[in-house]
Amino acid sequence: MGENIEKYLNRVAEAAEQNALVKMTLSKPADKHDELRNIYVKPVLIKGKRLFAFTYRYERRDEVKNYDAEQMISTLKELVPSKFLNAVLFTVNEDVALLVSSKGKVTVQTKKVQECREQNLEHDKQKARLINPANPWWYQLGLTTREGKVTADMQHKFKQIYKYAEIVESLVKPLKFDGPVHIADMGAGKGYLTFALHELLTQRLNLDVDIKGVEIRPELVQKINDIIKTSGLKGLEFVESTIDAYRPQQLDILIALHACDTATDDAIAKGVRAGAELIVCAPCCHKQIRQEMERSGKTDAITRYGIFMERQAVMVTDTIRALMMEYYGYKTQVMEFIEMENTPKNILLVGRKTDKTPDRLMISKAIGDLKRQYGIEKHYLETVL
Ligand SMILES: C[S@@+](CC[C@H](N)C(=O)[O-])C[C@H]1O[C@@H](n2cnc3c(N)ncnc32)[C@H](O)[C@@H]1O
Repeated sequence: MGENIEKYLNRVAEAAEQNALVKMTLSKPADKHDELRNIYVKPVLIKGKRLFAFTYRYERRDEVKNYDAEQMISTLKELVPSKFLNAVLFTVNEDVALLVSSKGKVTVQTKKVQECREQNLEHDKQKARLINPANPWWYQLGLTTREGKVTADMQHKFKQIYKYAEIVESLVKPLKFDGPVHIADMGAGKGYLTFALHELLTQRLNLDVDIKGVEIRPELVQKINDIIKTSGLKGLEFVESTIDAYRPQQLDILIALHACDTATDDAIAKGVRAGAELIVCAPCCHKQIRQEMERSGKTDAITRYGIFMERQAVMVTDTIRALMMEYYGYKTQVMEFIEMENTPKNILLVGRKTDKTPDRLMISKAIGDLKRQYGIEKHYLETVL
């Protein structure tokens, strides 16, 4: 070991000993292709013992290991410079950087700091991220920079993805599966939400999955399958098909987000027929019922206003969808997906299969009453179920 490295490690040991080590970062992997990208070190207090938490940041996951001061130094010896060419020690009053050049020259730079720093021994209570933008597929899907930062124009989309992951996590967690979870994401489009689902289920919930993104546009299917392949993702595939023509062999979860107009009904019908445990859809452009309502000429004090007619059509369409799912034994719930000003696309319709026998007479009556009230002959979902 070189003299400078030894000096540097002594400085780290001294900072640890004096409870002055605030944090450390190891960066610039010696092998550019190494999956391990960085290591972050911070002191923690575990059961009254001062330890050092090493967060190993791999391309697709984080791993945390806790060491005592002696183990920390021996681990650092193994890592610098053979695995990392840069290491920075942040103490309460200085930054000490160890830099290894491409020719192997080792320099140590020390900088006094003015700011008031102190050790924080609290465990990093932040939960493992639901969705990690540093995962390589987000760059390939065009959401992040190469370094894994969400781009300015994709912030809104990322917020939606995150919210979606939060909701799905709460819906999936109580479910029990024997073997892989079979999922169809109908009208998967550019795949953002499908990748989010895959990431959530495999990396956070540790589930074995078989997710099919069903999409009508062949060029999109090809492009997404290429991204899946280069990202090395297992259990995710895009399939070129209409929702209607898609025949799932097994289906535990049916997803349909923003599938246009009656495509949502085709998707719900697939889920119900396959006996999916969970149906999650975010309906959009409710044309079929709006046209029927307008054609009937039946307006009331509310729907005589064009904009209210449109909003009422959304509510009537989705209420009948929810009632029909209940008819087939699902417990339904309507929730807000994400704030998107003045758009009806912010509703999530969720159906959970139950083993309770539904009161079909009452449900049929409720559907009939709604149809009569708004001059609807048939809801498209009735024709496909
Ligand atoms: C508005 S995008 C939604 C994409 C994605 N689910 C999301 O929420 O971000 C709707 C997608 O569904 C596809 N689509 C529409 N009708 C379809 C059908 N009948 N069968 C399969 N895909 C369909 C479209 O090509 C489009 O990519």
